[in-house]
Amino acid sequence: MKFFVDTADTKEIAELAETGLLDGVTTNPSLIHKSGRDFMEVTKEICGLVDGPVSAEVVALDHAEMMREAEVLRKIADNVCIKVPLTIDGLKTCKKLTGDGTMVNVTLCFSANQALLAAKAGASFISPFIGRHDDNGFDGLDLIRDIRLIYDNYAYETEILAASIRHGVHVLECARIGADVMTAPPAVIKGLFKHVLTDKGIEGFLADWAKTGQTI
Ligand code: E4P
Repeated sequence: MKFFVDTADTKEIAELAETGLLDGVTTNPSLIHKSGRDFMEVTKEICGLVDGPVSAEVVALDHAEMMREAEVLRKIADNVCIKVPLTIDGLKTCKKLTGDGTMVNVTLCFSANQALLAAKAGASFISPFIGRHDDNGFDGLDLIRDIRLIYDNYAYETEILAASIRHGVHVLECARIGADVMTAPPAVIKGLFKHVLTDKGIEGFLADWAKTGQTI
């Protein structure tokens, strides 16, 4: 499973990129706002920190304006992936852009039928939002399961990018289901490295090693 980090905080991205385990980055207008940075400037900087796709979201709602914004965004770097909302205009834009060889991430997906439409529009990635689905009384992981089944039925190449991930159990279940990618906040990714027994084990081994008086 590919790991993307869901943030526009370049310090966090650089730190995770250093592990060699980071495959890409997702941003959205709220994350850009949180960063306090200029959209174009911070996106360019992020694109230089990772080799993989960096999702940058359009804010227009109509097809023509989405195309204009996409044109501006895709000039930032070769690894920019244009993010469009799952609307009729968003999917029209997706079809046009992917037809020209541009990577597109279709975002704000809350139903398997919407994911089916995105695959038919040639999306590179579909982003079903697990956490927000859970918050509204649905099972976000069921959504991932349904999309996996449908995409496999027809051998669609659109990658399932599990989004709005809130904790390690979401990551684990996405891996079990076979999501292609997961995007999570830096804290969730860092939390995956941790286990209390790992810390306790290191502590015990180091204490015993000190008693041997040896060095390596
Ligand atoms: C995905 O690309 C979105 O940026 C993101 O995962 C939204 O997550 P949230 O529900 O935590 O805002």
